[in-house]
Amino acid sequence: MQRRTLGFLCAAAAIAGCTAVDDAPTPADAGGGHGRPVEASTTAATTPWQASMQQIKEHLQIVRDQLQDTAVADLAAVSAAANAAAGLLSDGYGRYEDRTVPGFARMAREAESWCLQLASEARQGHGAIARELFVTGIDHCKRCHDAVDKVRG
Ligand code: HEC
Repeated sequence: MQRRTLGFLCAAAAIAGCTAVDDAPTPADAGGGHGRPVEASTTAATTPWQASMQQIKEHLQIVRDQLQDTAVADLAAVSAAANAAAGLLSDGYGRYEDRTVPGFARMAREAESWCLQLASEARQGHGAIARELFVTGIDHCKRCHDAVDKVRG
């Protein structure tokens, strides 16, 4: 286990509190596409959960890229990315639950529900609702990271 705090992830929040998705390339940077791997702060994963987190970050960047501009939103891509993130988060109350962190399983479940809800709204073509959910729910990430920081220091 790497001895370092997760604080850096969430120190300076542009969207509601988590730099985990703040360094996402803008659609313009990415030449209008998405899914370009983001180098910044991504190091080789040392645990399976950490690897999941890196994938979740990429999924959330797709969600964010698509939803940040009201005019352009590939809602099918948003739905697929949010669903994928939800699937990975479910391990947080399953095989990768960290019982040393109070509330870990609950927070994983809440973050999963949030992603599933977002995916569902996107799938139904509700871009505005999906956008609203993204902004109001991104704090789910920070909440768990803060709890982890408290325990691991
Ligand atoms: C249930 C707790 C929990 C939730 C919810 C959670 N994380 Fe994490 N996250 C962690 C833990 C624990 C680590 C540290 C991984 C390790 O060191 O093994 C981490 C690390 C990370 C990392 C750093 C990975 C690396 O390379 O070290 C990123 C990026 C990340 N999370 C993104 C997110 C995003 C985006 C969300 C919201 C969708 C999220 N996380 C939700 C627990 C959580």
